[in-house]
Amino acid sequence: MRSSTMHNLFIFAILTYPIASTAFSCAFTPKWNISVISAVPNDLVFHIKSGDDDLGNHTIPFVGIYSWGFCEKAGGGTLFYAYFWWGSKFQSIDLFDGAIKKICYLGGDTQYCYWFVKPDGFYVNPYPSGGGTFIKGWG
Ligand SMILES: *[C@@H]1O[C@H](CO)[C@@H](O)[C@H](O)[C@H]1NC(C)=O
Ligand SMILES: *[C@@H]1O[C@H](CO)[C@@H](O)[C@H](O)[C@H]1NC(C)=O
Repeated sequence: MRSSTMHNLFIFAILTYPIASTAFSCAFTPKWNISVISAVPNDLVFHIKSGDDDLGNHTIPFVGIYSWGFCEKAGGGTLFYAYFWWGSKFQSIDLFDGAIKKICYLGGDTQYCYWFVKPDGFYVNPYPSGGGTFIKGWG
C-alpha cells in the first residue's frame, strides 16, 4: 500500500511539474502562444477576437510585443481575427486559422506564432527572429 502511494505521488509530481512551470496546459490539443510584434514607428493599435474571446484593444509602441495563449479546439476550427490601426492605415486579418497553423506548426508541446507588423504589411513566423511569410499588406 505504502509503496503504491509513493508511486502515485511520484507520478503526480511528474505530471504537475510542467503545469506549475507554465501559465496553463491543454488536455488533448496543442497549446498555442501567439505574439504580435510591432516593427512600425509610432503606436500600433489592435483588437483581437475569436468566437469565444475578446482580447480587447491594445496599443504597443515600436518593437513592443503583445502575446496570448490558448488551447486549440479539439477537432480544429480555432479562429482568432484582428483589426489593426496604424496612423491612417487599417487592416483586418486572421491571426490564427488553418493556414496560419500550417506555417507555425513545428510539433512541440507549445506552438509559437510570431506576427511581425511592418510598414508594408503582416508577416508570420514560427520563430521570433523577424521576417517570415508575407500574409497581407495594409488596406
Ligand atoms: C479600438 O481602437 C480603435 C482605434 O483607435 C477604435 O476605433 C475602436 O473604437 C476601439 N475599440 C474599442 C472597443 O475600444
Ligand atoms: C508566450 O511566449 C512568450 C515568449 O515568446 C512569453 O513571454 C509569454 O509569457 C508567453 N505567453 C503565454 C500566454 O504563454
